[in-house]
Amino acid sequence: MAIKNVSQRTLPGPTVVPLVGSWATMLKFFYDPCTYSRWLHGNYGEVVAMKRGDPAYVFAFGPAFNFHLLSQPALFEVGKGTILKVPKDTAWGRIQFYNLLNMNGEHHKRHRHLMQPAFHKRQIELYHADMAALTLRMLDRWQSVSQIELHAEMKKLTQRITVKTLFGLDDEEEIDRIGALFQKLGASQLLLMFTPLIDMPGMPYHRTLRLAERLESFIRVMIAKKREDAEATDVLAALVHAHDEDGTRLTDDELISHTVTLYAAGHVTTSNALAWAIFLIHQHPRIHADLLAELDSTLHGEAPTLESLRQLSLLDGAIKESLRLLPPAPTSMRIAAEPCEVGGFALPKGSTIFYSPFITHRLPELYEEPDRFKPERWATLSRTSYEYLPFAAGPHRCIGAEFALQEMKVVLAMLLQRYRLAIVPNTRVEPKGSNLDPAYGMPMRIIPQDRRFERVPVRGSIHRLIEFV
Ligand code: HEM
Repeated sequence: MAIKNVSQRTLPGPTVVPLVGSWATMLKFFYDPCTYSRWLHGNYGEVVAMKRGDPAYVFAFGPAFNFHLLSQPALFEVGKGTILKVPKDTAWGRIQFYNLLNMNGEHHKRHRHLMQPAFHKRQIELYHADMAALTLRMLDRWQSVSQIELHAEMKKLTQRITVKTLFGLDDEEEIDRIGALFQKLGASQLLLMFTPLIDMPGMPYHRTLRLAERLESFIRVMIAKKREDAEATDVLAALVHAHDEDGTRLTDDELISHTVTLYAAGHVTTSNALAWAIFLIHQHPRIHADLLAELDSTLHGEAPTLESLRQLSLLDGAIKESLRLLPPAPTSMRIAAEPCEVGGFALPKGSTIFYSPFITHRLPELYEEPDRFKPERWATLSRTSYEYLPFAAGPHRCIGAEFALQEMKVVLAMLLQRYRLAIVPNTRVEPKGSNLDPAYGMPMRIIPQDRRFERVPVRGSIHRLIEFV
């Protein structure tokens, strides 16, 4: 492809330290994407190189570059997956093989089209009762404790909701057993970054393969059950019954991989989003009070119905605002399939270009007082999908976005009415890592909702990211 109008200037960016090369820069970025990307943007502008050369690693900040990257999927592709060499002839290889986030072009289009019905609005509404029932169980459990680790609780809850809605399991013990299997597999896989792939008892690889086999056979059994049951309303049932215009369906191997991806993509992001939303609401007493007033007048202490969820406009604004300030996917990337141009700079094929919802969401020209938590701004504000993109944009936009938003609304509406959570004073609060985990946890005291709205002093980098007023 001929590239026109390219600049002869060198790409701006930090100086690469000899020997450690660009790896040190990358590590800093992955450890603390908010602070580091702000520093890059503030010091070097809209297009910044983390590594020059062939291939280059480049940041492109702002809505115009979000559009440039995300609306040209043939030129800017999603990555081909993990850096580990995953053997395809093992259960571990099979369960990861089909993943929307690694697929491009027609292949992606076909799979996405087949998966879409499981995430249609009507279908997601069917998951509402499970979301509310599992939230109620968690809130009941909290009655007998005085303090919780909020982040861990949100992970447990979103994991249960994901397993329940994926497979339609009724038995709570089985839900937890399958959730634990997914978790163990995730943890075991992580170790493989640092250990050889040797299938011998005692080795992490051996453990990973056995866990993957157990998960694969469980999902195979579930697929067979869903084929028999035309009435089932869970996600897997919707995937099993989905078909193209010509009758083509997803194969068993495809169904297994997609189920595993949905679990992985769905629950960490949503649990972090919930933990930050709860933290931000409780640290803004006036907004907390207004939200309670909205919930009282609409729900009168009851769990939200589908109908009442639609009436909670301030809650909707609080969720939007929390996803704006601390998006669980603060940055993502695309790979250049051909030599290309970004911001007037020529980049070789294979270059990695990062875009940043986090930086976009903090641009003062798009959001007045960008570091303040102002849910009410969404009553009048409207932004394009490249200006507000916690779920990304374009053909890879999150397929579970509506699912996550409904889940967050149900959980928040029920939790806020029942309890006031007070973070333990002077807790260090810092969003870190590629999903903005609260790095030092979120210990919260549990108080029955007494409407004594107050901010608790906390420490940490959160003060550089949020302007509390
Ligand atoms: C607040 C919660 C969530 C956030 C912030 C989030 C964010 C994202 C983002 C940013 C992407 C696109 C990544 C990229 O293109 O670079 C994505 C894709 C995806 N998400 Fe989510 N997600 C959330 C919840 C969920 C849930 C609940 C599910 C499933 C039940 C899910 C399943 C997926 C899948 C399968 C993709 C790949 C879509 C494709 O490539 O076509 N996500 N998500």
